[in-house]
Amino acid sequence: MADWSDFIQQIKRQNDIVDVIGGYLELRRSGVNFMARCPFHGEKTPSFNVNRNLQIYKCFGCGESGDVIKFVEKYESCTFLEACEILAKRAGIPMPETSANRDDKEYRERKAKKETYLAICRETARFYYRAYRSDVGKTARDYVAERGFDEATVNKFGIGYSPDSFSLVKHLQSKGYKTEDCVKCGVLQQTQRGIADALNGRLIIPIFNIQGQVIAFGGRGLDEYTISRGKYKNTSETPLFTKKDNLFAVHIAKEQKQQTALPHLVVVEGYMDVIAMYQAGFKGAVASMGTSLTEQQAKWLSRLSDTVYICYDGDAAGQKATVRGMDILDRAGLEVRVMTVPEKLDPDEYIKKYGAEAFEGLIEQALPLPDYKLQLLDRAFPINSADSAKRNDALSKYVKGALNMLRTLDDVRQARYITAVSLKTGYSEDFFRRKLAVTEEDEPLTDSALTSFDKAKYFVAACVLRGEEYASIEDKPVCNLAFLSNLYDYLLDCRVKRVKPSVDMLYTVCPDATAEQYAEIVDVDLSADKRAVNEKYFAECKRLIATEKLKLQRDLLMKKIKSNPDDAALLQQLAELSKKITDNAN
Ligand code: CTP
Ligand code: MN
Repeated sequence: MADWSDFIQQIKRQNDIVDVIGGYLELRRSGVNFMARCPFHGEKTPSFNVNRNLQIYKCFGCGESGDVIKFVEKYESCTFLEACEILAKRAGIPMPETSANRDDKEYRERKAKKETYLAICRETARFYYRAYRSDVGKTARDYVAERGFDEATVNKFGIGYSPDSFSLVKHLQSKGYKTEDCVKCGVLQQTQRGIADALNGRLIIPIFNIQGQVIAFGGRGLDEYTISRGKYKNTSETPLFTKKDNLFAVHIAKEQKQQTALPHLVVVEGYMDVIAMYQAGFKGAVASMGTSLTEQQAKWLSRLSDTVYICYDGDAAGQKATVRGMDILDRAGLEVRVMTVPEKLDPDEYIKKYGAEAFEGLIEQALPLPDYKLQLLDRAFPINSADSAKRNDALSKYVKGALNMLRTLDDVRQARYITAVSLKTGYSEDFFRRKLAVTEEDEPLTDSALTSFDKAKYFVAACVLRGEEYASIEDKPVCNLAFLSNLYDYLLDCRVKRVKPSVDMLYTVCPDATAEQYAEIVDVDLSADKRAVNEKYFAECKRLIATEKLKLQRDLLMKKIKSNPDDAALLQQLAELSKKITDNAN
């Protein structure tokens, strides 16, 4: 751990934030700062600010801010660790050994194997690519032309063709790859007649990871016989690829985001939908490859955008598994909107039939997830039925479904939808509020409802982190929020090591915090003319924090006393504690 914080400090020292960001964006000097157009939201006039002294960046348009590592993480849509790796490489610093790789032969072997598999996949993609463009590829080219895809699109996606079952085998052997490795990464497979190309005779759609490396292939059958064995066949599960954890075309969405800041993503089901959309100008489309959405996929999506449109084939969108997938995205903090494509068409077919503009219209008409759920309920349980028995049954089911939907919402949205649901059903808003209150009590504190205790913790942390002379802490407050908990761990660690905390470490110590949380620390006005007020407020905050701790101790004690009402020692403790609380408050 100690190695790591040294390593991170070293990365930061040797990667000046202005130099690094200057390598990605065009920076213009403005006083002591540097400005650029923000890469994280679309804007015409620059409000993205890079500060060399503090080694931080901040966008005054969208609020995004952080240190050099956070910038790389966001810009490259990668993890914290991957960002460290990029910067370490840039500065020529070796990565420290972690418990995962130190002296771990198995780890190193696995890593080397992965490199081999990636090389095999790359070589296989090249082979397919060439075959598509050679004489043997005519069938495939005719098929693609008939579907209306042009050359630029075909090249962009690296479309290829598997001519037969043996040519790829020979090719990979000639390149010196072991058959065993080729089978492990899924490009070759053992058949009754020996080793063969796993996607024999199919049109090939390479699947890339977010870094743009080929990790698997989708193969579409072109003739009756092949299609009878599955219209599509994918590379099986391998160490590089699991269908449910990947999204087709993330690398293209990432590239798009770097060029223009993606306003939103569209999730569709199929390869061909993504490809058709790209050609029609919708370049932020990715495909779930026909499976229901997972948490891992939600992570990929949230790296790329905060708004996701779901565009599934006609009837598929209403199915239970599909809605569950949308809930997963919602819980990951994404704004989810659901599109409806008429006539049971898929996006590819719809664009072909009605054009790109009409498809844009579908995007505009998409429903926010709660509205979409209400629409599903409405269809499933028609509460306006003429038959009174049916009507009552439908009404109770509708109400139940609506309550489930309302429970997933934050306060503000809940209030709005309670009104809508009340109007729809004729039950009072109060009725819904009472029903919702039953489980609400158990819910943990959320970031959006900042208690005065949390506010105090933010302020104290801000003063200590930013080196205010009067500010010191002795112990850790009760922290419900991971952000505060990590931050206080860091501050206390600095105290133990007798080093000055550093503001830019904020983004390293708490890499997953929200812009609002960072703002609570970075934006506090600690200028000299506010010093007297701040010092006084600091003392008050510390007292408040201490009171909270004492009160929690008291609650625990009360619980103990409840089960041992005659224990005099406990009662004595309670009296002392209560006195402390009152003293502290005065
Ligand atoms: N899929 C699959 N295996 C199948 C069928 C489908 O893996 N046997 C996946 C593919 O990723 C496919 C997606 O599910 O792209 C959606 O399937 P479907 O709607 O049937 O395919 P389309 O993309 O519409 O393909 P096409 O237009 O070529 O018929
Ligand atoms: Mn289709």
